[in-house]
Amino acid sequence: MTQTSSTLGIPQTGQVPCHVAIIMDGNGRWATQRYLPRSAGHVRGVQAVRRVVEACGRRGVQYLTLFAFSSENWRRPAQEVSLLMQLFVRTLEKEVDKLVAQGVRLRIVGDLSAFDAKLQGLIRDAERRTEGQTALTLTIAANYGGRWDILQAAQAALRDRPELARHPEQFDESALAARLSMAYAPEPDLFIRTGGEQRISNFLIWQLAYTELYFTDCYWPDFGAAEMDQAFAWYQDRERRFGRTSQQLRPSA
Ligand code: IPE
Ligand code: IPE
Ligand code: MG
Repeated sequence: MTQTSSTLGIPQTGQVPCHVAIIMDGNGRWATQRYLPRSAGHVRGVQAVRRVVEACGRRGVQYLTLFAFSSENWRRPAQEVSLLMQLFVRTLEKEVDKLVAQGVRLRIVGDLSAFDAKLQGLIRDAERRTEGQTALTLTIAANYGGRWDILQAAQAALRDRPELARHPEQFDESALAARLSMAYAPEPDLFIRTGGEQRISNFLIWQLAYTELYFTDCYWPDFGAAEMDQAFAWYQDRERRFGRTSQQLRPSA
C-alpha cells in the first residue's frame, strides 16, 4: 500500500488519530520514586502496554507504534539490558495468543541482527502468528534508531537501483520512504512521550515531520486509557495545516 507523505501531499486526517507513536519513558523513575529497583518499573511498564493496546483498539486506532528499546539503550548497565531482553522474550511468549484474540497484528522494527537467536526466532514466530490480523497493527521498535532507519533505507535504495548513484537527482523522497522499516504504515498523526522529557531521542525522525507532538509528565507505568483520552482530546483541538493557512482550512472562520 502506498501512503500519502505529509510533504508530497496533504494526508487525510480524522478525529481519531490513525497512527499513534509512543515513547514509553519513565519506568526507571517510577520505580526509584518507590524505592524499587528499575526492573520493577519495566515490569509495570508491560502492563501499561496491555492497557494502551486495548484502549487504542477500542477507539479505532489502526496503527500503534511503541518505542521499547533504542539503538542507544545498549549504553545502559549490562544487567538492565539483559533484564529488558528477558522481559521482551517472556512477553512475546505469553502475549501472542491474546493479540490474535484482539485482532492485533504484531510487527517488530529495528536492527534485529543484534538480538540472540532465540529472541529473533520468537520475533519471527510472533509476527507470523499474528499476520492475518487487521484490527490494529502494533509495531514494537526494538534496537531501533531513526538515523539507522534512514541509512538502511538509503542503502537499500542504492542496492535496488544502482543507477541512482550516477543520477542522484533521481533519488527522491519516495525512493527512501518506501524502504523505511515502517513503510507499511502512514506517518504518525499523534506522538506521545511520557515521563516529562521533551525530546525525540532518535525515534521515527523521518516520519514525525508533521506529527502532532504531545508530552506528559505521567510516568509510563501510570499511563492508561484515561491518559490516552486526554492525549486524544488534545489532538482533536489541533489544527493540522501542513503548511497552509487557517483561512484555507476554514474559509468561513
Ligand atoms: C523507558 O523507561 C524504558 C526504556 C527506555 C527501555 P526508562 O528506563 O528510560 O525510565 P527513566 O527515563 O530512566 O525513568
Ligand atoms: C527513549 O527513552 C527510548 C525508549 C523509550 C525506548 P530513553 O530514556 O532512552 O531516552 P533519553 O536517553 O532520556 O533521551
Ligand atoms: Mg528514560
